[in-house]
Amino acid sequence: MNLIHTKLKAKIISKQELVPHIFLLKLKAPLLTQSAIPGQFIHIQCSENNYPLLRRPFSLHRIDKKKGEAYILFQVVGEGTKILSQRKEEEYLDILGPLGNGFNLNLESKSIMLVGGGMGVAPLLALAEEGVKMGKKVKVLISALTKNLIIREEAFKKCGAEVEVITEDGSYSDQGLITDLLKKNLQKKDYLPEQLFACGPKAMLKEVVKICTGFPFDLQVSLEERMGCGIGACLGCVCKIKVAEKKDRKNFQNDYVYKRVCIDGPIFKGEEVVWDD
Ligand SMILES: Cc1cc2nc3c(=O)[nH]c(=O)nc-3n(C[C@H](O)[C@H](O)[C@H](O)COP(=O)(O)OP(=O)(O)OC[C@H]3O[C@@H](n4cnc5c(N)ncnc54)[C@H](O)[C@@H]3O)c2cc1C
Ligand code: FES
Repeated sequence: MNLIHTKLKAKIISKQELVPHIFLLKLKAPLLTQSAIPGQFIHIQCSENNYPLLRRPFSLHRIDKKKGEAYILFQVVGEGTKILSQRKEEEYLDILGPLGNGFNLNLESKSIMLVGGGMGVAPLLALAEEGVKMGKKVKVLISALTKNLIIREEAFKKCGAEVEVITEDGSYSDQGLITDLLKKNLQKKDYLPEQLFACGPKAMLKEVVKICTGFPFDLQVSLEERMGCGIGACLGCVCKIKVAEKKDRKNFQNDYVYKRVCIDGPIFKGEEVVWDD
């Protein structure tokens, strides 16, 4: 459990609208980047006043420890993200972080696969960069509705990862869903990862777990729930996690316990999540 959560001011160094309604913010936040790991998130006060009252959670998209810079990638979906998209360069954001447990990247694994559905790519670039730095072979599968909405393909390639893209309308490469691309890759068997990491909508993650059942690799999924405090106090973000035999983590029973996505997650083992809610 991560108990380090610092309240910080992070300066907006740059803001880019990559495709309509999807923004990339570069923040100066050396204290944050010092201890942050891929898969963790920050809780941002979107405005300079108290509206909206609650902070909003965003994954760390890139973590540049040398420069003390962190990036977030976000889509405007409501009031908080709209206000955040209107904040200007040189302004300071009030943030809490780094929060959450982060991905567990094994030192020993030689090959990893990252699966990001739509905005699910957000926490995966930091992970791809870390994987490449550790000498792993990194393959990334990403999806978008259409060619013009594909995000971060070049950034993944630039960091040294192999990238495959699928679009729902077939306007770029194959037509289908991210889960179709995953199935195709696992059927080929020429690149079986030792660890697979997935992020995206709940329905997609549920399907990813189903597709990966029976494969020997370690599967980790990044969950999203609406959050209140972000630090484990309000129980606003609970999800159901299956109870496993102590000696056998693969042998999950039907019993479950409630876990907080903000502090026990957002990363969980794929097979331990109860999806039917
Ligand atoms: C750990 C974590 C990491 C996240 N990382 C990112 C990220 O890197 N980039 C990004 O674009 N978004 C991310 N999100 C989702 C982001 O926090 C929400 O989109 C944001 O809080 C919406 O705020 P809003 O005020 O604009 O929208 P609201 O007005 O609060 O909601 C607008 C719509 O979005 C839905 N929504 C709001 N919050 C969530 C949520 N947490 N999960 C699912 N649906 C939600 C609501 O049900 C509603 O339909 C993350 C969420 C979590 C929990
Ligand atoms: S958001 Fe408050 S406990 Fe998770």
